[in-house]
Amino acid sequence: DIFKDATTASKHVGEEIANLIQENNSVGQTTVLGFATGSTPTQVYDELIRMHNEEGLTFQNVITFNLDEYFPMEPESLQSYVRFMNEHLFNHIDIPEDQVHIPDGTIAEEDVAEYCKNYEQKIQDAGGLDIQLLGIGRTGHIGFNEPGSRPNSGTRLITLDGITRKDAASDFFGEEYVPRRAITMGVGTILDADRIIMMAWGEGKAPIIKETVEGPIRERVPATYLQKHNNAQVILDEASAENL
Ligand code: GLP
Repeated sequence: DIFKDATTASKHVGEEIANLIQENNSVGQTTVLGFATGSTPTQVYDELIRMHNEEGLTFQNVITFNLDEYFPMEPESLQSYVRFMNEHLFNHIDIPEDQVHIPDGTIAEEDVAEYCKNYEQKIQDAGGLDIQLLGIGRTGHIGFNEPGSRPNSGTRLITLDGITRKDAASDFFGEEYVPRRAITMGVGTILDADRIIMMAWGEGKAPIIKETVEGPIRERVPATYLQKHNNAQVILDEASAENL
């Protein structure tokens, strides 16, 4: 779906999420949401906060799982996704702390594999993801599933692509300070969600959006795996859709 701009599109996505939460609340069911970081989803989070403040939308029955985190990464660091999510959403809504899950960038390397298995298990135990929100990197990554990621991959430690590290350089005040690795939900983890909403804004994303939507499904562009999902939506502004 193509919207006139990111703000209009984000309001629409925010409303869809709020509708699901309200429907589930009315029958006493929890809602399991997969969240993303980066500049793309911030206005969706703004909309959710607005609905919490103005329309009494409650997150008491919501469980969340974030896609990824740099490794290593301290939660208090400026660039941490824990800090990002707190500042952009969680500090402003009524979600219980123990219902929020973000991959932990502080665990010892030898414990990461076990940690990732547990992360997958927690998603299963929660009943699976109802909606997974996604942005897209210029490499075609979803979460941090870089080119070469397998369609059935699970949560794991991954080496970041050079382009991804370049794109993150300004956040870290220099490319040399960008971590070389990250923990990410796998492609398989993402594809297991009942519904996937990918968003992209701006002309910089137009080339990779064209490949994602119109290109062949292939490992080199992990976002193309979304073509295999039966309930995946791509939400664009006019600029990111200009090559379609
Ligand atoms: C990072 C995140 C991705 C995100 C991408 C795009 O790599 N791990 O989840 O989609 O950045 O970032 P932005 O939304 O700022 O364009």
